[in-house]
Amino acid sequence: MKMIRYFLFPFLIFSSATICAQTYARQGMVVSDNTLASKAGVDIMKAGGNAIDASIATAFALAVTHPAAGNIGGGGFMVYVPKNDTATTIDFREKAPLAASSTLFLDKDGKLLANKNHESTLAIGVPGTVAGLYLAHQKYGSMPWRRVLQPAIDLAREGFPLTWALFKDSERLRQSAASDFIASYFLNSSGKPTQFEELWKQPALAQTLEIIAQQGKDGFYKGVVAEKIVEFMQENQGIITKEDLIKYEAVERLPIVTTFKDYTIYSMPPPSSGGVTMAAMLNLFELVDVNDVPFNSAAYVHMLIESMRRGFADRAEFLGDPDFNPDMPVARLISKERAAQRFAAIDIKKASVSDSSAYGHPYDGKNTTHFSVVDPSGNAVSITYTLEQSYGSKLGSKELGFIFNNEMGDFNPVPGMTNSTGMIGSDPNTIAPEKRMLSSMNPVVITKDDTLHMVMGSPGGRTIINTVFQTVLNSMLYDMDVAESIEAPKIHHQWLPDVTYYEKNKLSPDTIEKLKRMGHKMRPVGQLGRLMGIQYNPQNNILSGAADSSSPDGGAVGF
Ligand code: DON
Repeated sequence: MKMIRYFLFPFLIFSSATICAQTYARQGMVVSDNTLASKAGVDIMKAGGNAIDASIATAFALAVTHPAAGNIGGGGFMVYVPKNDTATTIDFREKAPLAASSTLFLDKDGKLLANKNHESTLAIGVPGTVAGLYLAHQKYGSMPWRRVLQPAIDLAREGFPLTWALFKDSERLRQSAASDFIASYFLNSSGKPTQFEELWKQPALAQTLEIIAQQGKDGFYKGVVAEKIVEFMQENQGIITKEDLIKYEAVERLPIVTTFKDYTIYSMPPPSSGGVTMAAMLNLFELVDVNDVPFNSAAYVHMLIESMRRGFADRAEFLGDPDFNPDMPVARLISKERAAQRFAAIDIKKASVSDSSAYGHPYDGKNTTHFSVVDPSGNAVSITYTLEQSYGSKLGSKELGFIFNNEMGDFNPVPGMTNSTGMIGSDPNTIAPEKRMLSSMNPVVITKDDTLHMVMGSPGGRTIINTVFQTVLNSMLYDMDVAESIEAPKIHHQWLPDVTYYEKNKLSPDTIEKLKRMGHKMRPVGQLGRLMGIQYNPQNNILSGAADSSSPDGGAVGF
């Protein structure tokens, strides 16, 4: 895909500092995990659609072309910053079914049933994607709903050449014992494995999308699709009912708005923890003199870690679904006063502690997907949505052709149990009927002097908050362009376990040694995040976009 992009976009150049290609455009752009989906959004803009129309087209197209995370069976968040109007967000996070309770995943002794919260029909939350995109369209779209779904319907019905990355996924899934559905997901009409570059057609998904195109939100939550979802649940020990589907509503919420120097950052409020946690970390970093923290120095990494440790401690203690936690102290958590107090308590030479020194594993992965959209009027949309793990629950109905999420795994599974491996048991995020599970997804839009500066986001579970935080800091504090910001080395610390994960080979051994002497426990990991971003340069009126070089099929498409 990188090569295809090269031929399609003569403006493409390679940034001197990175291997990541940057794409330039004057009018509009979409950057996503699949170039065909980016193109679907751009085609809609070329036909007169706005950023909302384009983002809906891209979201549905990703459900066809990037099924590991693109979805109609999951949920997510949209941050919308129109050029001349008020910024807003749409929360289409999945909900716990009505029959769920805080002990859903526990045995009779109160112990977590092995992996039930990730690998069972019970792990499926009531999907939110169709409701969220429909709400965005009703309020802010400009083209007919049917028209914006057409590219996805065409991709599903007519097929597209199976990429190498999808082909490798198909081999892995065919051998997995997760379900017959996922084992046969990539078979062609003759019942044989679809080969690399063979047209992969998804007639059942095309039919489901067609119904949604005709009937809007009701096409998913009522009628024949809903009936088949419920039928699947009844046959597979699931608990989602007709009533769950009928009751599901996406919600428009006020964004988290914070400033960093001359920049204004718009991000998601709870039930995502992304906006609050990143705002608190940015507030702390704003108090640092940039001359004291040269990029990638030990002082810089130390300050990142201490900001993350505090942000994530608050996340664990306070955050959950706002509809169930009306007293969350969000304003206090993101206040500049709190940052000043905390900053004063940070020792610039020594690591503080997170109440534990045990090692554990960060929850990383590329199993969520982010895309960024800017239209010719300068309206910006930032969407991160997910099935939770790669190909979600790996469950679905062959007649419907889409995959269900396993998002219930994002709730705190064992009430009261917080431990050094990163298991959190605090009350705000325990399971309750119709509650939304806390997320780390962190789609952002940044402006400067009321003009768009950047649209950014990433997958990666809890690492999302930190990778997006560092990427926007790279742009706002270290003056990097969009591709450099995305490719620059990243670290991750999430309070518990009290360990700093750094991308292998991207911190110098001397720096690591210094950090260890300060008291940090350092552990190498593979690449963090898979960022998709757009930057706007008001000086020459040019959009520059970049898809993380770790995205095999991703790409920026502009015009
Ligand atoms: O909402 C969340 O925070 C997670 N369900 C996101 C999962 C994820 O990013 C996994 N892959 N990268």
